Parts: sequence; structure tokens; C-alpha cells
Amino acid sequence: MEPMKDRGDRELRASLGGRSILVIDDSEAVRTALEVLLSLHGARVSGAGSPAAGLDLLASEPVDLVIQDMNFRREATSGEEGIALFHHIRSIHPDLPVILLTAWTHLETAVELVRAGAADYVGKPWDNDRLLTTVRNLLDLQAARAENRELRRRRAAARLELAARYELGGLVCESEAMHALVATAVRVAPAEVPVLISGPNGAGKEVIADLIQANSSVRGRPYLKVNLGALPDELMEAELFGTESGAFTGARARAGRFEAADGGTLFLDELGNLSLQGQARLLRVLQTGEFERLGSSQTRRTRVRVIAATNAKLPEMIRAGRFREDLFYRLNVIELEVPPLATRQDDILPLASRFLQPGFTLAPDAAQALLRHAWPGNVRELCNVVQRACLLAPDSVITTRELGLPVVPVPADGANLDRATLEQALHLADGVVARAARDLGLSRQALYRRMEKLGLKLPAEGGQADAGSD
Ligand SMILES: Nc1ncnc2c1ncn2[C@@H]1O[C@H](COP(=O)(O)OP(=O)(O)OP(=O)(O)O)[C@@H](O)[C@H]1O
Ligand SMILES: [Mg+2]
Repeated sequence: MEPMKDRGDRELRASLGGRSILVIDDSEAVRTALEVLLSLHGARVSGAGSPAAGLDLLASEPVDLVIQDMNFRREATSGEEGIALFHHIRSIHPDLPVILLTAWTHLETAVELVRAGAADYVGKPWDNDRLLTTVRNLLDLQAARAENRELRRRRAAARLELAARYELGGLVCESEAMHALVATAVRVAPAEVPVLISGPNGAGKEVIADLIQANSSVRGRPYLKVNLGALPDELMEAELFGTESGAFTGARARAGRFEAADGGTLFLDELGNLSLQGQARLLRVLQTGEFERLGSSQTRRTRVRVIAATNAKLPEMIRAGRFREDLFYRLNVIELEVPPLATRQDDILPLASRFLQPGFTLAPDAAQALLRHAWPGNVRELCNVVQRACLLAPDSVITTRELGLPVVPVPADGANLDRATLEQALHLADGVVARAARDLGLSRQALYRRMEKLGLKLPAEGGQADAGSD
């Protein structure tokens, strides 16, 4: 065996330690060599000389990884027995990592099997370092996937509980951040206090406002929406507070939104665009419930739950003298911040499926492109991109061509791939490294190196758990 660097050696020992590996090969020399190599690095190794013996062992003891030959009789070279064995293993253990040991002359068969879900292949005669790296990566990946599944299971349970208790509508909240936000929103919904929702364009502020209204004690009562950015000052005040006939040329007697929403909810969108005079009037009605229609001296009363939304940075506007501090504190009793979509990777594909026309699906490379895009226009941009793609697609499978997203070239070494992208790619490829590499446009070796660099490791080894990276 080639000498290995100390650190690498320790890491290998750590990730192979106690893991059980089954070697199925008719050659005793091969079994012995692998047993020595792998047990030297802490693995428990068992060997079987035929597919039948291997399957027996697999049924009787826990196995974390299988290394299997492709031919089990001296005269056989077709690889058929190996193919059958692999399919047999897969049918019983869909997730078990399987490494195919194959003569370089039969690489094509191995590559085909890797496409069909074999975890990886190693050419015979093998290089010890290469083999160990492959084994370790697959075991680590397997552990990370198991943990991921557990995390997803727990999250799905939490989501179901939330959905059972509250009215979530079609809202997608798969990501940790969105789930936490939604949980807070439904908790504060029944209270009568004002809510201020902030966040970038198209991130889902109005969706959160709707969620609060639907779970409030005044659901079923009037729910009105006013876009404060859409009208000039005077018309805006008329819109909010109403007019008396003759208030200005052509004005008719008309109730404003505060009157119409009495007993219900008023959603004030684009709050940052309200003039200082409008802000003063808004503050008064929030504090006292009192207001007058434009052109009238008669004071009216209203009781309205106000939800306001803004993409402006109100504290900065306060410093610049463009927003009243007292109004800000009045409104932000509860402040909910909707994070940008790019920071909510787990929401991207579920949202995309929601926006797909019925019957349409995403090709794997299209899903990858969605995950890699920066989404400056957030959920609205995603919605537009997916809906347009459905119109453009010649059949029901959406590819990168129809998405039309700017292509960010991946360098040959994958140096710009972050951990989340990589984990998603591996997840979408069902942990099949070769498939993930192909989807990412990398060689297998480059993907392995990148995984190594990002330290895709067992949480017990790394100290900081993988949970947060998901
Ligand atoms: N979590 C979500 N689940 C499902 N659909 C969503 C979600 N978030 C946003 N959307 C959809 O994305 C689009 C934009 O959302 P919304 O209008 O709430 O964003 P916004 O933050 O109010 O945008 P703007 O800043 O432009 O006012 C809408 O079509 C909405 O239905
Ligand atoms: Mg909006």
C-alpha cells in the first residue's frame, strides 16, 4: 500500500471505524487483499465467494457497504452475474452503497450500472488510495443522507402539525427559515396587534399577510388591501379615509378603506411610500381609532387590524427624516421578516413544482439551474420563470433551455460550488456520485475533491453537525 499522509489516514480510520463492508468476489486473493486493506482502516469486513453466499450474508448481518465483482467464474467475462447481483441487492436495499469492481475492459457495463443506481465503480487492478477514498465518501454520504432523511422527517412532521392546526392555504414553507416565520405568523395572528412585514420584492410579504388574516379572529370579516405606492398623496388620503362631497372638485361622498374594513383587516402595502402627512393621519387612527373623511369635520371611529408591508429599510428612512419613528414603533409591535429566496434553498424546488402546469416535470439539470440561480426577484421571479417555461416547452419536461436563466459556468474543478448546491445535487442524484457529477458538469474525481474540501463528513467527526447546512 502506498504511504498516506497522517491526517488523511486518521480521517480514514475515523470514517471507516466500525462500519461493516461486504466483499463479494470469487477470487480469494481479491477478498483477502481488500479485507486487509479495509480492516487496517478500522472497517469490519466479511467476504463471500459467490452472489448466493453474498446475498445470504446480506440477509443475516447488517452491512453498510458492498464491494462486488462482476464475474464469479473463471471462464465468465460477460459481467452478467454481476449485473444480476447488483439488481438483486438494489431490489432489497435501495439505498445501500454498492461499489462495482470491474476490469477496465468492461467499463461500459459499470458506467451503465452507475447510471442505474450503483453508487460507484473502481477498475481492477485498483489503486488503494482511490478505493479507500471512494469507500469513505460513500459511507460519509450515506450517513449524511440518513441524517438528512431524519431531519426531513422531523420537519415534515412539524409541517403537518402546523397544517393541521392552522389554515396555510397553498403556502410553501419547506425551508427552516420559512417554517419558523410561518409558525410565528400563525401564533400572532389571533392577537389584535398591528404586524409589520418586511422583506425584498416578491419574497412573499403579501402571502404572509393573507396567512395572518386567514388565521386571525376576524377572518371572514372584511379584508381590504391598499397599495400606498400607487396613488399621489391627496388621492391616497381620500382612498384611506374617504371623502365628503365637495372635498375637492368632483369629489363624491365616499367611505374610505378604514371605514370599509371596520371590524376586519386592512393590509397597507408599500408602507415606505406614504407621505409624512399621510403618516400623521395613519398614526392617529392607529392610536385612537378616530379619523375624518376629507372635507368633513365629523369624527368617525373604526376598529381595524392593520398589517403593513414594506421593502424599504424603515430605520434608515427614520434617520433620514422620511419616516415617523412613533408610527414605526406603533406598527412594528410584531415584525416579521421574509428572507430572500436565495437563502431558502429548500423552498425553491417545492415552489417550482407548485408553479408548474399540471403534468409538467423538471429535468434534473433544470432543477439544478433553479437551485443555482440567485433569484433577485425572489418567489415572483421563480413563478414567472417556471410559468414561461411551461409555455415554451415542446413537451411536458422542462429543460434548462426553456428556463432561460443566465448560465453560470462551473469551472472544471467545481471550485465555485458551495456545500448546499453540492448536497442538493447529490440528493437529486440519489447519492449516486457519478450522476451528480454529470449533472454538475464535473468529473467524478473533481466532485470527490470538492466534497473533500467542503468536508462532507460524519457529524460525529466534524464536531459541527451537518444539520445546519441543509
Ligand atoms: N411561500 C410561498 N408559497 C407559495 N407561493 C408564494 C410563496 N411566497 C410567494 N409566493 C407567490 O409569489 C408571488 C409573490 O409573492 P408576494 O406578492 O406575496 O410577494 P411580496 O413580497 O408582497 O412582493 P412585492 O415586494 O413585490 O410586493 C405571489 O404570486 C405569491 O403567491
Ligand atoms: Mg407585495
